Amino acid sequence: MTHFKFYGLLERAVWQKVETGLLPVLGYFSKQGTDFDLQDIFQRFTFDSVCQLVLDFDPCSLCVELPYIPCEKAFNDAIEALLYRHVLPESIWKLQKWLGIGKEKKLFEAWKAFDEFIYPRIEVVNQKDDDFKLLTDFKKAYQEKNGCSSDSRDFLRDTALSLMFAGRDTTSTCLTWLFWLIATNPSTETKILEEIETQLHIKQDKKWRNFNVEESRKLIYLHGALCESLRLFPPVALEHKAPIRPDNLPSGNYIQEKTKVIVSFYSVGRMETVWGKDCLEFKPERWISASRRIKHEPSYKFPAFNVGPRTCLGKEMAFIQMKMVAASIIYRYNIRLVEGHLVSPRDSIILQATNGLRVSLEKRNVRL
Ligand code: HEM
Repeated sequence: MTHFKFYGLLERAVWQKVETGLLPVLGYFSKQGTDFDLQDIFQRFTFDSVCQLVLDFDPCSLCVELPYIPCEKAFNDAIEALLYRHVLPESIWKLQKWLGIGKEKKLFEAWKAFDEFIYPRIEVVNQKDDDFKLLTDFKKAYQEKNGCSSDSRDFLRDTALSLMFAGRDTTSTCLTWLFWLIATNPSTETKILEEIETQLHIKQDKKWRNFNVEESRKLIYLHGALCESLRLFPPVALEHKAPIRPDNLPSGNYIQEKTKVIVSFYSVGRMETVWGKDCLEFKPERWISASRRIKHEPSYKFPAFNVGPRTCLGKEMAFIQMKMVAASIIYRYNIRLVEGHLVSPRDSIILQATNGLRVSLEKRNVRL
C-alpha cells in the first residue's frame, strides 16, 4: 500500500468518485435546500472507492437516487453484531448463531449479501492483466504459493472483504466526526480554508483543481484536525487482547492466560493524564510543531491505528483520501448542523454516529 503505483490508483479512484459521485450529490442537496445524512454520504463514498480499488468495480451507491445496495448496508449490521461477539461470553453468541437469532441472525444475512456481491467480481479477476490491480496481485501470490490449479476463490473473498471492512467504515466515521467537530468549532473551518488557499495556491475567486498525494501532505492543519477527530472519536474504539501466558499489566494487575482484556481507545484519547487539561477540546493546533510540521505522537498515546505488530496498513492511504474529500467539501460548502438532531456514538465495533449526521449546505462564493 505504500507502492507508488498504488498511490496512483488511489488518487484516480478518489478524485473520480469526488467528481462523479460526491459533488453532484452535494450540489443536488444544496440546490434543493434540503437536509440530509452526511454520514450516509461518506459511507457510500468510501464503499464505492474501496470497491473500485479492491475489486476494480464501482457499484455507484453514491448518486442522487441513493440506491439501496444490500452489501453496502450489510456492513452496518455486521459491525453491530461484531461488538456483541467481543463482549458476550463465547457460548452465548455461539448459541445465538446456532439458533439463528438476535445479532447473529443479522450477521448471517450480512454474510449472504457479501458473498453475492464479492464472488461474481472474483470470477472476472484476470491474471494476465498488466495493470496494477490488487486482487490480480493477490491471486498471483496465492497461486505462486499453492500451485496454479489451487482454488483461490475463498482466499480472495476473505481478502477483499477484510480490505472493504478496513477501508469503508473507519474512514467514513472519521470524516463524519470531523465535520461535526468543525461545525461545532467554526473558527477551525476558517483556518482549513486559509490553508487550502495558501498551500494549494488556489484563491477563492479561482477555479478549483484537484491535488495530488504530494500536495495533500502540505495540508498540515487539516491533518491536525483529522488527528483530533481520531483522538476524540477513534473509529475503532476498542481493542481486544488476551495473553497466551499469565502476565502483569503495566498497571500492576496480574492476569491469567486467555483473560479477555478490552482496551478502550476512546478513553485513552480523553484522559487528562495523557492529553492534559484541555483533553476534551478540539484543537488541531496541538498536532502542529513550531516549524509547521505534524508532531509525532507514540501509538501508545494515540492508538487510533492500533499499537504494536497489528498496526493499520492503510493509515497513509486513509489520510490522503480523507484530505481529498474534506478539502473538496470545505472549499465549496459551509456545513450547518440540523437543529435538534441528536448526534451521539452508536454501540457498534465502529464508532459511527447513531441516527447519522443531519446537515444542510450553504454554497460558498466560488467559481467552480
Ligand atoms: C481512519 C481510518 C482508519 C483507522 C482509524 C484504522 C484503524 C485500524 C485499526 C485500529 C486496526 C487494528 C485492528 C485490529 O487488529 O484489532 C487496523 C488494521 C488494519 N487496517 Fe486500518 N484503519 C483505517 C483505515 C484503513 C484503510 C483505508 C485501509 C485499507 C483499505 C486499512 C487497512 C487495514 C488493514 C489491512 C489492517 C490489518 C493489519 C494487520 O492485521 O496486520 N485501514 N486499522
